[in-house]
Amino acid sequence: MPSKNNEFQSESAEFREKITALDAKLHEDFNAQFVVSPFLSRKTVSFQGNKDKPAYSWYKYKEAFSAGLVEYFLCGYAGPISGKVLDPFAGIGTTLFAASAQGISADGIELLPIGQEIIHARLLAEREMTSEDITKLEHWITSVPWKQYPERVPFSTIRITENAYPPETVEAIEKYRGALRQESEKIQTILQFALLCILEGISYTRKDGQYLRWDARSGKRRPGTKAFNKGKILPFDAAITAKLKEILSDIRHAETPPTLFPMKQTAKEIRLFKGSCLEILQNLETASYGAVMTSPPYCNRYDYTRTYALELTMLGLTQAEVSNLRQEMLSCTVENREKDLLKICPQWAPFIEAADQQKLLQTVNAYLEHERVSGNLNNTSIPRMVRGYFSEMACVIGECARILKPNARLFMVNDNVRYAGVSISVDTILSDIARTLGFEVENILVVPGKKGNSSQQMGMYGRAPLRKCVYVWRKR
Ligand SMILES: C[S@@+](CC[C@H](N)C(=O)[O-])C[C@H]1O[C@@H](n2cnc3c(N)ncnc32)[C@H](O)[C@@H]1O
Repeated sequence: MPSKNNEFQSESAEFREKITALDAKLHEDFNAQFVVSPFLSRKTVSFQGNKDKPAYSWYKYKEAFSAGLVEYFLCGYAGPISGKVLDPFAGIGTTLFAASAQGISADGIELLPIGQEIIHARLLAEREMTSEDITKLEHWITSVPWKQYPERVPFSTIRITENAYPPETVEAIEKYRGALRQESEKIQTILQFALLCILEGISYTRKDGQYLRWDARSGKRRPGTKAFNKGKILPFDAAITAKLKEILSDIRHAETPPTLFPMKQTAKEIRLFKGSCLEILQNLETASYGAVMTSPPYCNRYDYTRTYALELTMLGLTQAEVSNLRQEMLSCTVENREKDLLKICPQWAPFIEAADQQKLLQTVNAYLEHERVSGNLNNTSIPRMVRGYFSEMACVIGECARILKPNARLFMVNDNVRYAGVSISVDTILSDIARTLGFEVENILVVPGKKGNSSQQMGMYGRAPLRKCVYVWRKR
C-alpha cells in the first residue's frame, strides 16, 4: 500500500501536470496577443526610469513605474487618449503627473499615506510656490535653523521601527520637526516631505520588499540572517540640505522638464482620492474615463506597510493604524485576512464568480491548498493570499470596465509569480477574467528579459523565469 506521503507526492505531481497543461492552453489562447515589446525594458517599467528625472526622483519609490511608460501608453501607443485617466493604485502619482503634463486630467486612488503625502507635497512644490516660499526654503538651506532650535518634537515609533536611527540623528530630526512648526503650512509640507525623502538614507535600515533589512550597527538582527552592512549612513544635516537643494533646483527649472513626449499644454488637473480602491471605485461614475493606467501590488508577498514603516510612523501612524492599513491593502501578503467583498459591494458577485470560474486559477488554488495540507508550504497562508489577490483583482477589473468609456483602454503592469514550484501566470489569468468582465484583450506586452525566482523556490524546484508584462485591454 502506498504511504500517505507517497500518495500526497503523486497527487502534487498530478496537480502540477494539470496546471502545466491548463497554463499552456491559456497561453495558446492568447498567442496572438503576446508580443515582446522593444519599447519596454526593466528600466521603463520600474522606478529606474525616473532616477534622473526632476521631481520624479525626489522620493525613491521602488514600486513606481517610469513617467516615460505613462507617456508612451497615453500618447504614443494608439494616439492620445480622449478624456480623463484613472490610476486606482496611484503610488506616488507617476500616472497622475505624467498624464497631467501631457494635457490629460488625471484621478488617482491611493491607500498608503506615504504615497498620498508625496503627491500632495509635489503638487504644492510644482504648482503653488511663490518667490517668498522659495526664499524661505533657501533660508533653510543656508541657515540650517533647526541646529540651534531649542525645542524637540519627538516622532512615534512602532515595534518594527524602534532604534532605526543613530542617537544624534534622532536629536537632529526632532529639532528639525520643532523648527519647521514656525513656518506656513505649505513650507511645513515641503520640509516634512524632504525629511520623508531621506529617512532610509539616514537610518540603519534598507527597504527590502517583504520587510526592512537592518544594518548590524543598529544592534538588531533577524534571527537566522547574516550580519548586514548597508554602507554609509548619511548624517542628517548633509542629507536634508542636499535634498532641499535638489527640490529647490527642480522647482526653479520646472519650466523645461525633459519629457519623452514634449509638454503640450499647461498641466491639467490632478485629483487624489485617499483610501482603498476597493471602497472608492464603486462610487466613480460609469463610462467616465478615457483610460486606466496602473500597476497594482504584485502577488509576491511584498508588504508595503513594513517596507514604508519609517515613513508611516514619521507621519504619525500608530501600531494599530499600520496593522489596519495592512488589512485594507490589496491582498498580497500572507498576513492579509480574507476580505468580505460582497459586504464591501453586493453588486460584485459576478466579478467574484469570474475569478471562481477561471479554470487555471482554481486548479492553482486547489494545488496550493493541497500543498498546505501536505505541509509543503513555507507559509500556510499562501493559498489564502493567492485566492484573495485574484478575487480582489477581479472586483477592481470589473469596476474598471464599468468606469471606462466604450473602446477605452486599460494598461496594467504586473509580474507573474511562483509558489510551491508552480509558476502562476498572473498575466493570462487576469486577462481571461478581464475577457469575462467586458474587456477585449488587445495585447499582453512582454518586457524583454525574464525575472528570476526567490532563492528558496530556486533551491527547491529549480529555476523558472517569470514574465513581466504590460496588459492592454480594451473595453468592448
Ligand atoms: C505597484 S505600486 C504603484 C506605483 C505607481 N504606479 C507609481 O508609479 O507610483 C501599488 C500601489 O498600490 C497601493 N495599494 C495597495 N492596496 C491598495 C488599495 N486597496 N487601494 C488603493 N491603493 C492600494 C500601494 O500602496 C502601492 O502604492
